[in-house]
Amino acid sequence: MKRTQVVIVGAGPAGLLLGQLLHREGIDTLLLERRSAEYVAGRIRAGVLEPGTVNVLEHAGVATRLHAEGLVHEGVEIGFRGRRHRIDLKALTGKSVTVYGQTEVTRDLMEARAAAGMLSVYEAEDVALHDVGGNTPRVSFRHQGVVHEVACDFIAGCDGFHGISRRSIPAESLSVSERVYPFGWLGVLADTPPAWHELIYANSEQGFALASMRSPTRVRCYVQCDLTERVEQWSDERFWAEFRLRLGGEIGARVPDAPSIEKSIAPLRSFVAEPLRFGRLFLAGDAAHIVPPTGAKGLNLAVSDVFYLSEALRDSYREVPGERAERALDAYSTRALRRIWRAERFSWWMTRQLHRFPGDAFDSRLQHTELEYLFESRAAQVSMAENYVGLPL
Ligand code: FAD
Ligand code: PHB
Repeated sequence: MKRTQVVIVGAGPAGLLLGQLLHREGIDTLLLERRSAEYVAGRIRAGVLEPGTVNVLEHAGVATRLHAEGLVHEGVEIGFRGRRHRIDLKALTGKSVTVYGQTEVTRDLMEARAAAGMLSVYEAEDVALHDVGGNTPRVSFRHQGVVHEVACDFIAGCDGFHGISRRSIPAESLSVSERVYPFGWLGVLADTPPAWHELIYANSEQGFALASMRSPTRVRCYVQCDLTERVEQWSDERFWAEFRLRLGGEIGARVPDAPSIEKSIAPLRSFVAEPLRFGRLFLAGDAAHIVPPTGAKGLNLAVSDVFYLSEALRDSYREVPGERAERALDAYSTRALRRIWRAERFSWWMTRQLHRFPGDAFDSRLQHTELEYLFESRAAQVSMAENYVGLPL
């Protein structure tokens, strides 16, 4: 292929879903991914889908298995000082979330892309973007030892936080806001039925813990850990002992020492690079922003970004090239950033309230006060619930 309409860099949920949405608008794409298809399909990450995300996946025609296998959750729980407090998402907002792993979303999207005969190149090396600020954007890459160059109208940078797209934009054209947190999350995946019905976010004396799941027989659990720690220092026994302690109560007591299938440490970060457009290049998903996982927003934001981007590209193709087409393209960044910053705020807030920070007594008293207020005030619960289920797209 020497030319396509849109080159998509990165086959994470953002890139794959954008390809699917553009295909439905009759727009051609080429998808370039650095890793192998098996590697991409096997990566364990997020697990909670907002109803807006489910709607977009339906619109993209990839929600059949999601509806059959996804677990609908009408509430979440917050554990604090030996008690569990339920936030009734359904009663407070009329909406629920769906527990369905990012791995499954990725698999559904990969299968749909292959079935539609859209071109994807996995294990594409040395992907480089050319003339993104000009009128002849091109992307070069090496595949099985052969160098290729493809001309296009637009490039979608969906290549995650460490990708090349954001770095292809001159530093003076991007404004970056960042906060790094002084801890990480150690996550374990294990085949055992969850001892809990809904997700439990626990703020304990020993630090944060999250009890999540992937299916009626598979759990995903996390504990806050030091950034200096390595996975090898955490045997399964040590992980479960710590998790039980932090979860506490009768549920903690029912958690078995299940062998881990996967174990990894992720640092926590808040990050936004803006605007999301530079000439013919658009950033979407983790390439443009990172949220700490506490609000379960990373995957959901990737989905809303590419939904807005697909509309902007569709609208611009409907215009003759000129001012109106440019305005349609500019609308993407403005629209997406409004939602991104709201998710950044909520993810920061959840992180702030649920983790142990190396702060002073004042910070810690404020955290307790904030949580007590949340447990007692319906207004505070509505605010948390409407953000957790996701603001409208
Ligand atoms: P990604 O999923 O990162 O996809 C980007 C793709 O681009 C990758 O496949 C990558 O291989 C490819 N790529 C990178 N560089 C290049 C290049 N130069 N050329 C070609 N391709 C390239 N969110 C939660 O809500 N809960 C979690 O528990 C959670 N855990 C996470 C754990 C980790 C280790 C990470 C990194 C993220 C986690 N997230 C979590 C966040 C969530 O998974 C992301 O927000 C989501 O994956 C974003 O999708 P994306 O498509 O934008 O980026
Ligand atoms: C997960 O199941 O991996 C998960 C759930 C909720 C979060 C983060 C991760 O907030």
